[in-house]
Amino acid sequence: MKETPYSAELSNKIEFLKSKKKSCQLGRVSFSSKYLLAPMSGITNAPFRLLMQELGSGGAITELISSHGINYQGKKTLDMLALDEDELNTGIQLFGENEKALSEAAEFAEKFKPDFIDINMGCPVRKVCKKGAGSSLMAEPKKLGPLFKSIKSKINLPLTIKIRTGIDEKHRNADQVIKIAASEGIEFVSLHGRTKDQMYSGRADWDYIEKIAIDSPLPIIGNGDLNSKEIIREREGITKTSALMIGRAVLKNPFLFLEALDSENQITFTTSDYLEVINRLDNLIRNFTDNEKVHLIQMKKHIAWFITGLPSSAKFRETIYKLQTYNEIYKNTQNFFQQSSVTH
Ligand SMILES: Cc1cc2nc3c(=O)[nH]c(=O)nc-3n(C[C@H](O)[C@H](O)[C@H](O)COP(=O)(O)O)c2cc1C
Repeated sequence: MKETPYSAELSNKIEFLKSKKKSCQLGRVSFSSKYLLAPMSGITNAPFRLLMQELGSGGAITELISSHGINYQGKKTLDMLALDEDELNTGIQLFGENEKALSEAAEFAEKFKPDFIDINMGCPVRKVCKKGAGSSLMAEPKKLGPLFKSIKSKINLPLTIKIRTGIDEKHRNADQVIKIAASEGIEFVSLHGRTKDQMYSGRADWDYIEKIAIDSPLPIIGNGDLNSKEIIREREGITKTSALMIGRAVLKNPFLFLEALDSENQITFTTSDYLEVINRLDNLIRNFTDNEKVHLIQMKKHIAWFITGLPSSAKFRETIYKLQTYNEIYKNTQNFFQQSSVTH
């Protein structure tokens, strides 16, 4: 067994809660827990995915990666494809609008040994959608059958999709897209309960997600606004989906996957646990990049998220963004936690 990177005290808490994970099998893909990490651009890179795996996530999807970037063999894009050798149950997510380009990129991505290839059909960002990629793919259901067929002909790995409820309130066609996906042998569908037009505003429509899950011929992973352990557990108790996917909330609380498993509220995570996680993330990022600038930016970003909501966090955020070394950042964070003497 691998040595734990955490103190005995924190390791015990982690292992105790991880023993409560319930694995799930979605088509040909298995996950070690029903709580999965959502893909987030600029965030769910290999170090962060590995950290979340250590802290209880049952699987993950990379950030969206451009099919054209892969086919042009751009270095930055190719770096995004690399998985850590310790990562489990991870899919590589591709985006694009062109059947040939996506199929060739999927064939190339397969060499990086993910557990599945996921197609992004949910990104609402203009830069992606204006060319017909991301959630714009949902506007052209006729294109989807041939698109899935073509990609599948190039890969042996399971193919999955991540979608939204539809383009806008009047055009919610997740059910239609899922039917097409089922007939082409897609393995499962991650469904974010917002339309493309909503971007990230309003609330994820869980009534719609549940309605879709009941009738769906494919396993559905429900996603959107699962932002506290109480909400996750409540949803877990009633949901017809096969798994739950969590994004933004783990940026603030890296222990959320574990806390969601702690139905009897037996474990509390302390500020010292947060500091251990910060140091662990620092190590993981260091192993992954020797670009000190990138490393520091990532650490500042994550620490700024971890402290969200704590007293004087806005002022502290300004302070750490001015610091030049990880040691200074860590020391300041340690002082900040001690002064605020608050548990999350
Ligand atoms: C900063 C950010 C980046 C995202 N990047 C991606 C992405 O690359 N691919 C994707 O399918 N979804 C992406 N999403 C959407 C999330 O996967 C998820 O569907 C959405 O945040 C709703 O879940 P949440 O409420 O748990 O955050 C992103 C969301 C955020 C906030």
